[in-house]
Amino acid sequence: MYSSLATPSTARQLHDRIYAGEIIRFTDLQPMTTLVDFTRTFLEDALHPWPPQQIHRHLSHSEQTVLFAKCQNDFAGSTEIQRRWQDIVESLGIAADTLACDRLHLRFQPHREPDQFTPRARTTATIAFHRDTWGSNIYAQTNWWAPIYPITAGRTFALYPGLWRRPLLNSSADFDMRAILQRSHCHGRNAVDADEAIPHLLEAIDPREGIAVDIAPGSLIAFSGAHAHAGVGNSTGLTRISFETRSVLIADLIAGLGAPNVDGHAPWKTVGLFRRMSDGRRLNEVLDCGFIEPYPGASGASTFLKNRT
Ligand SMILES: [Fe+2]
Repeated sequence: MYSSLATPSTARQLHDRIYAGEIIRFTDLQPMTTLVDFTRTFLEDALHPWPPQQIHRHLSHSEQTVLFAKCQNDFAGSTEIQRRWQDIVESLGIAADTLACDRLHLRFQPHREPDQFTPRARTTATIAFHRDTWGSNIYAQTNWWAPIYPITAGRTFALYPGLWRRPLLNSSADFDMRAILQRSHCHGRNAVDADEAIPHLLEAIDPREGIAVDIAPGSLIAFSGAHAHAGVGNSTGLTRISFETRSVLIADLIAGLGAPNVDGHAPWKTVGLFRRMSDGRRLNEVLDCGFIEPYPGASGASTFLKNRT
């Protein structure tokens, strides 16, 4: 499933391959190992006295959601973490003033018994099948993902590279990102549950088409936000803790480069979630546009469909 890219590469080489659907794996990346070590110390302090991977054994679900949300906010706001992420990006040959990144996200996926019911909180849920582009309409988006503690095929997420060019029935036409951002802004991230935060698949896909990502800490993968992916249910006895973020090469967004749109129909395009890496400036200010803007192609299609029904 993976291809490799010698480092340092160039931003052009990397992104051309991402837009063509390649899933690029960087193995034993020294600055990634540094970020992993720093993050483990951060977590062990934040969750003390409980070992991070055992946290689900000690806290109730609601306690987990509160603590994980605090960890996620502290992690995303940490200048130390941001500096280490920039080191990784630059080690790959990408200049910090050419790239805009979304929030740096720590994902917690606690162990659950297979038949255990738990609310679909955004901080703890196994994420349902989706393409990020169903929600964002940003086809130049690159997703980055790395484990902080060891993962297995049962404690990870799965990619569906065979669906790269296959249009899938999905709910993106009715996905109102603007309303979700407003609720999240007013009432916090946990006000929007994991299923409301993304559009959904409206047809059956054989889960066996998914390929579990199983890479060692210190490795990192990059793939287009247009790739279908889903969390893998975790019943391994340990909480999965992984790192992820999204980025866009600013010039490519301006030039309209990116992955093909095979089935995204969302009415909005959200560029304001990204910030230029070199100075933290919001991408909508860099581009002189709105935080969220109508996406012309999709809104036309949506209006057309609504007029017919
Ligand atoms: Fe995603």
